[in-house]
Amino acid sequence: MIILRNVPLQPFNSFGIAARAAMLVRVRSAADVRDVLAHRKLAARSKFILGGGSNVVFTGNVRALVLKVEVPGRRIVAETGRHVIVEAGAGENWHDFVTWTLDQGLPGLENLALIPGTVGASPVQNIGAYGLELQDRFHELDAIDLVSGAEFTLNAGQCGFGYRDSVFKHRAAQPGDFGLADRALVLRVRFALPRDWRPLLDYRDLQARVAETGISRPSARQVYDWVVAIRNSKLPDPRELGNAGSFFKNPTVSPEQCRDIIGRDPELVHYPMPDGSFKLAAGWLIEACGWKGKRVGNAGVHDRQALVLVNHGGKAQPVSGGEVMTLARAIQASVYERFGIRLEPEPVIV
Ligand code: EPU
Repeated sequence: MIILRNVPLQPFNSFGIAARAAMLVRVRSAADVRDVLAHRKLAARSKFILGGGSNVVFTGNVRALVLKVEVPGRRIVAETGRHVIVEAGAGENWHDFVTWTLDQGLPGLENLALIPGTVGASPVQNIGAYGLELQDRFHELDAIDLVSGAEFTLNAGQCGFGYRDSVFKHRAAQPGDFGLADRALVLRVRFALPRDWRPLLDYRDLQARVAETGISRPSARQVYDWVVAIRNSKLPDPRELGNAGSFFKNPTVSPEQCRDIIGRDPELVHYPMPDGSFKLAAGWLIEACGWKGKRVGNAGVHDRQALVLVNHGGKAQPVSGGEVMTLARAIQASVYERFGIRLEPEPVIV
């Protein structure tokens, strides 16, 4: 085990925020975690798990021991009647893994192409895009308990998936509570890819591609290419303009509240949910409040997608987590004032 001290975290977060970690350990296997737990001083420290750093905002230096997950590997595990089970180490880059599955002739993850981050982080926030969520393709995962060092396996039900949510985002106040945040580290994730594959084209942007090209039955590779092109056209590349993807979750409101807003703002982008509620496009709400393209210090609202906050200071004069949160709070206040809706941040705020 190598313990690194006073480590700059700027290269390890897609926002490019210049925080530091007092101590950082690279985790390539369960044995590395057990070494930490066997170490008299390190075992007692609180721990922060860092994946690809694409969904985190550092508001200061990190005092907790940073466990940087670098577990490698990808393989085809088994074939069942209806699925092919594939596995990847938590440290694998998500998009490279999606590309690899297609190279193996295994469709099923193409709608999730180009999402930044690692495989280990994908179940933590139940990543989703273009009509597909991770939980739709999830089989099970192996994790390690950060107190006992015991390894265990969780199925989808045990992960408690919700919209950009899972058991790994909740902190248990006492033993037995729902929540494994900072308590369990994901080592490997297994996915069930359907043998009887059909393209998922319900999302509006994909339907537009079908209409434009006349290709009504695209291959998985074609859908992958479309998703990559759509993302590239709307979302900033974190290597050029630091960001953490969508900064807020799309809020859910009651039918009455939705009707009330439409009465005043007929253009409101809203989607009916199976339980009768409505999901609203937070990007639309933020744009309606005049924030799109605005800048406060080095923090800004992206000019092509108002749901994404960006770092205008680059590497040299990076935005601070405090500046990002000041902008985020100002956006929350104006959306609340105009629509009565409280936007909830999507990334993990540290
Ligand atoms: N919209 C605006 N103004 C904006 C942004 C969006 O009016 O500035 C409207 C668009 O016109 C569109 C609607 O809002 O009608 C939805 O926009 P988009 O398709 O870009 O998707 P989103 O709801 O803003 C969600 C996810 C993204 C995911 C896309 C595609 C969340 C919080 N975000 O964004 O996920 O890529 O759908 O499926 O659910 C992420 O989580 O980091 C992320 C990027």
